Amino acid sequence: MTAFRTILYEKLDNVAHVTLNRPQALNAYNIQMRDELFEILGAVRDDPDIRVVLLKGAGEKAFCAGADLSEFLSAPPPVLARVARFERDVWGRFLSISKPFIAAMHGYVLGSGIEMSLCCDIRLCSDDARFGLPEVNLGIIPAAGGSQTLPRVVGRAHALDILLTNRWIGADEARRLKLVNRVLPRNDLFSEAESLAYRIKNFDPRVASCAKQAISRGLDLPLIEGLQLERRLGQLLIKAP
Ligand code: COA
Repeated sequence: MTAFRTILYEKLDNVAHVTLNRPQALNAYNIQMRDELFEILGAVRDDPDIRVVLLKGAGEKAFCAGADLSEFLSAPPPVLARVARFERDVWGRFLSISKPFIAAMHGYVLGSGIEMSLCCDIRLCSDDARFGLPEVNLGIIPAAGGSQTLPRVVGRAHALDILLTNRWIGADEARRLKLVNRVLPRNDLFSEAESLAYRIKNFDPRVASCAKQAISRGLDLPLIEGLQLERRLGQLLIKAP
């Protein structure tokens, strides 16, 4: 286990367990967490032993209650904010990694909590999960990619409905909207997410990576270019020793 202040990071049998760990603040995403997540994502990307990543939240009440309001709404000067953003493009790094990510969410999943999960490939939640994007109510818009990733997952109308109304949705509605793949009883969430991670990590990691790239990168391409991408990735696997 590597020591960070806001995140538990553990490598077990080719699976990286990344646990947001500020339960006293409902795992709110603060600057320290941003920096640590950035570092952990770099380690995940570069470590050939890691085949799958499992993201979850510590404590009973929340996966993540969004940006830390005590820090994030006291904005740094724009120049400093821009430098920090370029140097620590957490969301760009998240989305650029071709290893599969699983999010296991319970309790409150708000703001950057939803956005973090949208950087993952498979989303599981427990039956007590509640999702919301309170940004507009706070006079801001999502800043962790959510304005782009949410409509790509649930479609434009549902994304705007969630964002513009500040309406929180429960686990069953999240499933209907395809925001999550599966809803599980609270006690089974982490064990089911782990079984899924272990199942995926048993596949050839190059094949899993190409499958993820074909679908994730392909979705942002016109069909004809997506088909070319699929062909290139398929050939890469055939040619590889
Ligand atoms: N940033 C910083 N601290 C937060 C936080 C956040 N986003 N969300 C919760 N906390 C802290 C609370 O201040 C509280 O700390 P305290 O015990 O020192 O007072 C602790 O976490 C527990 O939260 P509490 O509000 O007591 O729990 P609750 O069950 O009554 O309510 C919420 C839970 C999620 C409804 C409520 O905490 C909330 O509305 N949080 C803000 C959500 C938000 O707007 N996020 C920003 C998205 S952009």
